[in-house]
Amino acid sequence: MAVSIKSPPEIERMRTAGRLAAEVLEMITPYVEPGVSTGELDRICHDYIVNVQNAVPAPLNYRGFPKSICTSINQVVCHGIPSGGRTLKNGDIVNIDITVIKDGYHGDTSMMFGIGKVPEHAERLMRVSRECLYKGIALVRPGCRLGDIGHVIQQHAESNYYSVVREYCGHGIGREFHEDPQVLHYGRPDSGMELREGMTFTIEPMVNAGRHHTRLKPDGWTVETRDGRLSAQWEHTLAVTAEGVEVLTARGDEAF
Ligand code: MF3
Ligand code: CO
Ligand code: CO
Repeated sequence: MAVSIKSPPEIERMRTAGRLAAEVLEMITPYVEPGVSTGELDRICHDYIVNVQNAVPAPLNYRGFPKSICTSINQVVCHGIPSGGRTLKNGDIVNIDITVIKDGYHGDTSMMFGIGKVPEHAERLMRVSRECLYKGIALVRPGCRLGDIGHVIQQHAESNYYSVVREYCGHGIGREFHEDPQVLHYGRPDSGMELREGMTFTIEPMVNAGRHHTRLKPDGWTVETRDGRLSAQWEHTLAVTAEGVEVLTARGDEAF
């Protein structure tokens, strides 16, 4: 599939979808506390997206995914399935990944939450993985190449003695959840596709405390670190503008 360039009216619809996805993360934040189950978080997000936003939770039934959000705890890298039996406990770290469809366009964003008092090493992993995302975003402008983005992310993760997951990546986004191009979170400077105004894609680095290898659980969705150590991820949906970048899923507490 070729990379689609979005027109200004399409970017406006992406802006709306992105804002709604960001607002789900802001809405759910006060509920992400010790004792809540990930199934309960899924139910609250589902009902908010459907009944308040009049939007569609994109994960639900996507290639058979059974829930409306992804909740990935501790050693889970991504695509964790919410469950009524899994209660968040003091010291956990959890990624909540929200994708909404509004007026035919997708907005995709995720962030980490520390539950109660989190160990310093886990706080550091969450901080460095967020810095990896921000360093990637800072490069986005027409003429930048995808390898430049992958390189800066890999460099920051590895200089902190962490590793970058290889099997999953960012992606073009628009009418489809996952479009071309693939946005790798590792790579060489001055390589890969050149960015152009009107491209929309995600950056969503998964950074592991230990080695980069992953394994898929028998449920067919849950991706874990092979060594069982912690993993953290942050994601934004971006548009390439004439001047640089617009972060379509920016939250109120973020300044770009
Ligand atoms: N939101 C994820 C991403 O960032 C994809 C989740 S697919 C699902 O691309 F089926 F697990 F929801
Ligand atoms: Co994504
Ligand atoms: Co996502």
